[in-house]
Amino acid sequence: MSSGAGKIGVADGLSAWLEALGDKALRIDEPLAVEYEATALQHALDTEGRYPPIWVRSPRLPGGEISPFGLVTNLTASREQVCSALGLDDHRRAAAWWAERQERRIEPVTVPAADAPVRDTLLEGDDVDLQLLPATVQHRGNPGPYLTAAHATTLDPETGIDNSAIQRCWIKDARSMSWFPYPNSHNARNMRAWHERGEACPVAFWIGHHPAVSVAAQVKLGYPESHWPAAGGLIGEPVRLTPSLNFDGRLLVPADAEIVIEGLARPGATAPDGPFAEYTGFLGPAVDAPVCEVLSISHRKGAVLHDCGSGLADNLTPDNIAMEGKLFSLARAVSPRLINVHAPAQGRRFLALLQFDGAIAGEVRDALAAVLAWRRVKTAVALDSDIDLFDSQQVDWALATRFQWDRDLIRVDDLSTSLLDPSLEPGRKTASKAGLDATLPRYPSTPPVAHPDPEALAKAAGLLEELTGAGLADGWPEK
Ligand SMILES: Cc1cc2nc3c(=O)[nH]c(=O)nc-3n(C[C@H](O)[C@H](O)[C@H](O)COP(=O)(O)O)c2cc1C
Repeated sequence: MSSGAGKIGVADGLSAWLEALGDKALRIDEPLAVEYEATALQHALDTEGRYPPIWVRSPRLPGGEISPFGLVTNLTASREQVCSALGLDDHRRAAAWWAERQERRIEPVTVPAADAPVRDTLLEGDDVDLQLLPATVQHRGNPGPYLTAAHATTLDPETGIDNSAIQRCWIKDARSMSWFPYPNSHNARNMRAWHERGEACPVAFWIGHHPAVSVAAQVKLGYPESHWPAAGGLIGEPVRLTPSLNFDGRLLVPADAEIVIEGLARPGATAPDGPFAEYTGFLGPAVDAPVCEVLSISHRKGAVLHDCGSGLADNLTPDNIAMEGKLFSLARAVSPRLINVHAPAQGRRFLALLQFDGAIAGEVRDALAAVLAWRRVKTAVALDSDIDLFDSQQVDWALATRFQWDRDLIRVDDLSTSLLDPSLEPGRKTASKAGLDATLPRYPSTPPVAHPDPEALAKAAGLLEELTGAGLADGWPEK
């Protein structure tokens, strides 16, 4: 698998990957506060349309001291970089690539602690101090420092099959944190199963890995199914695991992660969590969340904490790529003429763009209906093959010129959705969804698209390059 950063493999660790990125990462050596400052930098870069990973070498903790851990955020903000880390050259082909890869499985391998870099340093008992981690306070209204890219791994007590998902944790003190698995998530289901037996739920949080593993672990699976073989299938090699330090080693954790926190969520132990800035760009309400009592922390030498800017491209890009793969497989099952799918980050997981190369009667609408059934997708737009799905100006042009509301709209009410959709009125649990067929009808009277003369266009491009090179374009106004 190509690593996207020289010859760095998935076992080499996140720091090595960042190091190899060179000036494609933004490395900050002077202290930067974990409270607001790291996230503000992400927002400022986003405004500029720039998405480098931000590697903070000296994160300043809320008390003023410098954390012994480094901090990396914005790691997964760039589609190009995420896809390159996965070994995919063209991020525009992510949907079909992911759809095919998500079916593959490569079993993980288990290595002893002695061969697991994440077991380099081990902290137990009174040595455990979560507050030394450079956990960020991201947005105004967030109540405290959060782990925002911690993958929680739990077991189904019946089958012993594990599940991993990124789920936020609010660090409350040295040895406890709230942990928020959505009630319908597989981890929440596992936790409830332990609690129904009257037992505490063992949970391990692994933080920071080569980005290919972090992203591949997010493949959407049925229940119960372990994410390790699926992540291996996606990256094309086995994920290296090592037994947990607690729970008789029954849980397995990635040997090459930066940090692993192990703990117990006891029945009935809950605490308020949030408000928290969500992927929607809005502050989500405070919820009652399980409390995790931490038993141990282990980490690599010189470990970096992976943070994910919530509601920013950093948060949306990896999940949207996984969603593109899922939607591609759903829509392709009913439309062989589907050629691409894109879930733009600004659509916040509510918007899907589907592209077709011709289609027989009804087929585009079949595909639109298929993707509207997927979780949060609220608006799905069908587009022709000449429209660049990654250029919102072209998508707007297609919607403005190729679509009639009375003919090209499908509306389906009362489908399942995310309760985080800020437009839902109180008590409402379903969404009204729409598919818009913005493919151009092919009547004899349908006009052709107007194109410039190709030779003249090439000449104009050359002229522009000369003028720009001579510095003459600097003062020209933007749109
Ligand atoms: C950056 C990021 C943060 C997330 N935060 C949460 C969270 O706090 N709680 C949660 O249940 N899911 C969160 N998710 C989604 C989960 O990773 C996962 O998709 C979801 O919990 C469903 O998991 P499952 O397929 O194992 O049921 C987050 C995803 C990303 C990419």
